[in-house]
Amino acid sequence: MTANELRNKFLEFFEKRGHKIVPSSSLVPDDDSSVLLTTAGMQQFKPYYTGAKDPIKDFGVRRTVSIQKSFRTSDINSVGDESHLTFFEMLGNFSFGDYFKENAIEWAWEFITKELKISPERCYVSIFAGDTDVPEDKESFNIWKSLGLSDYKIKKCGREDNFWGPTGNEGPCGPTTEIYIDGVEVWNLVFNEYYQHPDKTLTPLKQKGVDTGMGLERLAKAVQNVSTIFETDLFKSLVETSRIMLDHCRATSFLISDGVTPSNKEQGYILRRLMRRVMAMKEVESADIENLLKRVVKEYKNFYPELNEDLILSVFNEENSKFKKAIQQGLRELDKLEKLDAVSTFKLFESYGLTFDIIKDIAGAKAANLNQADFDAEFKKHQELSRTASAGMFKGGLADASETTIKYHTAAHLMLAALRQILGEQISQKGSNITPERLRFDFSCNQKMTPEEIKQVEDMVNEKIKEDLPVKMEEMSLEEARAAGATGVFESKYGERVKVYSIGSFSREICGGPHVEHTGVLGKFKIVKEESSSAGIRRIKALLE
Ligand code: SER
Repeated sequence: MTANELRNKFLEFFEKRGHKIVPSSSLVPDDDSSVLLTTAGMQQFKPYYTGAKDPIKDFGVRRTVSIQKSFRTSDINSVGDESHLTFFEMLGNFSFGDYFKENAIEWAWEFITKELKISPERCYVSIFAGDTDVPEDKESFNIWKSLGLSDYKIKKCGREDNFWGPTGNEGPCGPTTEIYIDGVEVWNLVFNEYYQHPDKTLTPLKQKGVDTGMGLERLAKAVQNVSTIFETDLFKSLVETSRIMLDHCRATSFLISDGVTPSNKEQGYILRRLMRRVMAMKEVESADIENLLKRVVKEYKNFYPELNEDLILSVFNEENSKFKKAIQQGLRELDKLEKLDAVSTFKLFESYGLTFDIIKDIAGAKAANLNQADFDAEFKKHQELSRTASAGMFKGGLADASETTIKYHTAAHLMLAALRQILGEQISQKGSNITPERLRFDFSCNQKMTPEEIKQVEDMVNEKIKEDLPVKMEEMSLEEARAAGATGVFESKYGERVKVYSIGSFSREICGGPHVEHTGVLGKFKIVKEESSSAGIRRIKALLE
């Protein structure tokens, strides 16, 4: 039974028994300056207990039922356990000089054990034991007995537990009887018989009243048979959102720090999908994501020093603004479509970056027949096409196989190794384009390189050229290449043989070749330009003179 069904059942149950349904009052009380926040359903009804207001005039009857937004700062330190909250919803039925203990207890028991079919085995109750000012509540004890509860199921407790004091410093009050389910207090039935004055003395009220309050979250926990309120349907989707957000932000931080940037392909697509899913969550603000990404870095930086907060945040921010623009255009397109299939969904993805999950989330009924497997198949088809296309254009980024081109190709390997030594191991190649005239090389890196860094890379490459290192090719399995510390794209199928080119012990890359045999033939290496290519990606143009 969902919490919403519980809400409705409760209201209907008491409406059928002559209660007028009254909406919740505000959390900030209108005309009760004695409390800062509304702590109970009875608060809006205080004047009807004292006789200051006439319930017949306002409700037509002397009994009401409500679901009250309530707030308990007194429970703040218990929040996080299985049953305490600051804000909660209180189901309550109220009588102002109308029915009293008998009806109140019988109905409560009927609602719990008959209407909701909670086994009496799971329940026990408590009543007021009595003290010097107020006698023991024998009447409630006897009513519970008549309903079949054994003596040991009726606990007697003192003022602390079973006496409702007035909200604020004066007001109606009286003994209570409480229903516990699985050891948790769920329903409090207050029998207002007294008025407590500011000096704490009690005088009997002219008319007796009933004020009950039952925590919806705790009731849902009992009915849904879960062990904490956070597992009830009242929290479920919120908790799920937080979990997805946690996972995706953690994964995002690690991917970006290892050089992945969002794109529509391969690793970049995985990252884009995670990031955009979180960005698209209705409940989540960009600032929340940023904070979480920072927290991830803080949490794991000790063990994973490669986590790079600046890089993570700048990649996130750029992707976020791209996404905002894309989603507006995408939504307009989506509106025009009547039904979504894998092909149209892929088009939305390709043109606007709306990922599968997002489309599924926002398209509602239009996406009823859309499934992940079909989309994946469509996605794969396009990936293969684009891979073949780029493979045809230039092998290993080479425009041709002229002698100069081959020299540039080897220089590119030297440069990547130098970049990784100088800027850090997180640097990875993002693309290259080599012609007989120059080398163009893209790599993951958040900051602009300083002139010193550029000089260091140049010097290191030239040093390795001077050392006239041998260039060697070996064939091995992908796993062996990985074990040998080769850089490159590990996207091939398991067990596939790959070529690994080593330049002395300075560089080792998975690569199809071709390369020169000794670095000495390369001449003088010079970086002529270093610029941004896209978010988190820098582009270098270099020459061999
Ligand atoms: N006023 C009581 C409580 O808040 C019953 O509604 O527990």
